[in-house]
Amino acid sequence: MAKFSYTCSKCGTGHTKWAGQCDSCQSWNTLADQGPLSAGPSKTLGSKRGRSIALTDLATIEEPPPRTKAGVAELDRVLGGGLVQASALLVGGDPGIGKSTLLLQAAAKFARNGLKVIYVSGEEATAQVRMRAQRLGLTDSPLILAAETNLRDILTTLDEEKPDLVIIDSIQTMWTDHIEAAPGSVSQVRSSAHELTSYAKRKGVSVIMVGHVTKDGQIAGPRIVEHMVDTVLYFEGERNHQFRLLRAVKNRFGPADEIGVFEMTGKGLVEVKNPSALFLSERGKPTPGSAVFAGIEGTRPMLCEFQALVAPSPHGQPRRSVVGWDGQRLAMILAVLESRCGIPFTGLDVYLNVAGGMRVTEPAADLAVAAALVSAREDTPLPKDAVIFGEISLSGALRPVSQAESRLKEAQKLGFYQALAPTSKKIETIAGITLRPVTDLASLVEELFGPC
Ligand code: TYD
Ligand code: MG
Repeated sequence: MAKFSYTCSKCGTGHTKWAGQCDSCQSWNTLADQGPLSAGPSKTLGSKRGRSIALTDLATIEEPPPRTKAGVAELDRVLGGGLVQASALLVGGDPGIGKSTLLLQAAAKFARNGLKVIYVSGEEATAQVRMRAQRLGLTDSPLILAAETNLRDILTTLDEEKPDLVIIDSIQTMWTDHIEAAPGSVSQVRSSAHELTSYAKRKGVSVIMVGHVTKDGQIAGPRIVEHMVDTVLYFEGERNHQFRLLRAVKNRFGPADEIGVFEMTGKGLVEVKNPSALFLSERGKPTPGSAVFAGIEGTRPMLCEFQALVAPSPHGQPRRSVVGWDGQRLAMILAVLESRCGIPFTGLDVYLNVAGGMRVTEPAADLAVAAALVSAREDTPLPKDAVIFGEISLSGALRPVSQAESRLKEAQKLGFYQALAPTSKKIETIAGITLRPVTDLASLVEELFGPC
């Protein structure tokens, strides 16, 4: 067994010797002398016998875990139908995005629904939390507050108080006194998260931890925290947009990839019941470069608008700027447009945005992106009443995507009449929407803009 003397502060990988770059996550200057990541078995198990463990079969019927609903539909759905008793959760997000606001509101609701909830803030004094609660109109909730960062004291108090739910805001401010490292360091975060998770399992109490995320989207401190907990939720959005998305990236008790949509208002976070309508609300008259994508987020169809701008570049190396989508994927689509459809983007700056601060990860958005790009380049608007979806392969062929029918139904609800999507059938009408079949990228370009 190798003896690790250095630990990467980003991914938590142990190293035997120091190096400038972590060979696991490739980040620079992150190796620190943090002691061993895990002591590991230093000797073989030897001849000492353990106790026998319980063995069971597959057929035993398991009771579903007890859940409590917050009464906030968007949050309950992301949790997979409510908060599971004795579960450990991590809520990650950029500083200032609204994690404390979300959890204070959720905690107050859970407390109103009969749970004994303790909200421990390591970042703000109780007076500050109370002031925020007043502004959010939550003061009538029987929520219990504390401001503390010493985990030993917190756990002792929790043992006495016996709550049903504990919120820890944030895990980076907590410290345990048996480790000599600053709060927020890898070993402190790891140890605090471990203590809290095992407390949750031991006492049957749900624990929600807040974690700040680094700029590139990773929860600061070891990724190990993500493995320890049952559920990881990300709270994301653009700071200067009012929309916020709560996304389940891991959930042992429900579907991952589920999202909840909120709007940040002067009175805190308000759930958005019909996100498609909201994301499309800024659309005015048809503009070149705008394409509506019929997507699926988790289990729910959601429409959003891609906006592209193509302009002659004053630079030798044209700009490629993307917000809300993957830059690599954009490069791929530009390459396919150039080599399979003969539409070059050389010498042109390309900007691509998803309206409203939404972030799209589905490959099904390829076709909408391609349509937005060509529409911007040709300075010709797309039909206002059309939604677009489909995955593009490197050959320029289109792959059908899953759940086409629910995408079309959502589009119909929002007043669209036609859809451009890959399908093997001739023109057909589903859910009141005319489906115009396209087989490859070149045929889409021809269908929309004529022969190029
Ligand atoms: P906060 O919950 O403190 O963020 P985090 O815990 O993720 O760091 O949210 C802070 C931001 O939210 C702050 O910029 C102000 C804004 N905000 C509102 O717009 N309305 C509100 O009612 C509240 C409480 C905050
Ligand atoms: Mg906060």
